[in-house]
Amino acid sequence: MKILSIETSCDDTGISIMEAKGGIKNPSFKVLANNVASQISIHSPYGGVYPKLAKREHIKNLPSVLEKTLKDAKLDKKAKPVDLITVTYGPGLEPALWTGIVFAKELARKWKIPLVPVNHMEGHIFSVFPKAGKKNFKVLKINFPALALLVSGGHTELVLMKKWMDYKIIGETLDDAVGEAFDKVARMLELPYPGGPEISRLAEQARKLGYASGLTTRIPLLGNRFSRAVALRRDSLARLPQLSFPRPMLHTKNFDFSYSGLKTAVLYFLKDQQKKHSNILQNDKMKQAIALEFENAAVECLVHKTLRATEKYKIKTLIVGGGVSANLYLRKEITRLRQGFGRARKNLKILFPAPELTGDNSLMIGIAGYVNYLKNRRKTPTPRSIKAIGNLRLK
Ligand code: KG4
Ligand code: ZN
Repeated sequence: MKILSIETSCDDTGISIMEAKGGIKNPSFKVLANNVASQISIHSPYGGVYPKLAKREHIKNLPSVLEKTLKDAKLDKKAKPVDLITVTYGPGLEPALWTGIVFAKELARKWKIPLVPVNHMEGHIFSVFPKAGKKNFKVLKINFPALALLVSGGHTELVLMKKWMDYKIIGETLDDAVGEAFDKVARMLELPYPGGPEISRLAEQARKLGYASGLTTRIPLLGNRFSRAVALRRDSLARLPQLSFPRPMLHTKNFDFSYSGLKTAVLYFLKDQQKKHSNILQNDKMKQAIALEFENAAVECLVHKTLRATEKYKIKTLIVGGGVSANLYLRKEITRLRQGFGRARKNLKILFPAPELTGDNSLMIGIAGYVNYLKNRRKTPTPRSIKAIGNLRLK
């Protein structure tokens, strides 16, 4: 069957069409068209997404993105071009979510086809299956228990799955999401929005230059992995302040995270430095060093809790999804979880999304929507009952 999928939970207007085949045990897909209209340039002056503007832009973009998507898929919009519609209904910005839902309802009514509401975070879990640059893909058979580390601008959570579509959030952020912290620190450093890729770029530059950062924590489980950076090129270190930002909740027994203290530590550090040197933000080295130590701290918390959860729950498959899963250092450190720690860890399968699907997109909504449709075929909700739920949780 052909599936049209719509994603408008934040600042990307995504519409795609896929041909889906197979039952719940072996779903497979062919991408016929996939488009995303990004609103980055609109929100960038505000340093974050402005919900009213996002709503206005989605309303403006939806018809033209649909038109282009149907054209790319060589389908005629007058006849019934697809068999099913899937749409994100939460979590996200409610005004933005509603635009996609209202649009989807109208199409479902016009074409007289079912409409499946999809949880955006479930979408990020399924985003690991399409392969970079390939049109055909399958939902792979994975071994359970599985764990999903979902990291985005609005979420930081660890989700335990004993089987498909059975979710238990075992840990989450108590305040800011990790992507939000990246964005806020980028703003403090006067870097453009979205800040994640900018911070990551500076941190990678700093690593190449061999800057040290104040990594002093030694985590028994991880050996000395994180303290290695300290030993690098002391000459460059000498010209930089000794940076050491906190790793909030690193040693708590639960699987929760906290990013607001880390962000505030960067703010206080900057304020303090500005008192001493007024033009601190013109100092590229200083910015690189801050980005490096911030990224090290942010990633260390993610990796440490993920590692502990994989051990406690004897995880066989680890899925990493959400905008922050584009982060190269996070990918590298997560991949290292498999190295040198005995057999169980070596057999851990780790899945990341293709780089172009780390951010919000509608393909992931289509995959999650199709499997939900197969599971609940007889219970597909009536379009009228579908509502936007800003704080929707996986369960
Ligand atoms: O999943 P996503 O596209 O939207 C939400 O559902 O929130 O995630 C966006 C977040 C932003 O905070 C952005 O700064 C962050 O993902 N991000 C990154 C990177 N690329 C995007 N964070 C760190 N490193 C990156 N390379
Ligand atoms: Zn997202």
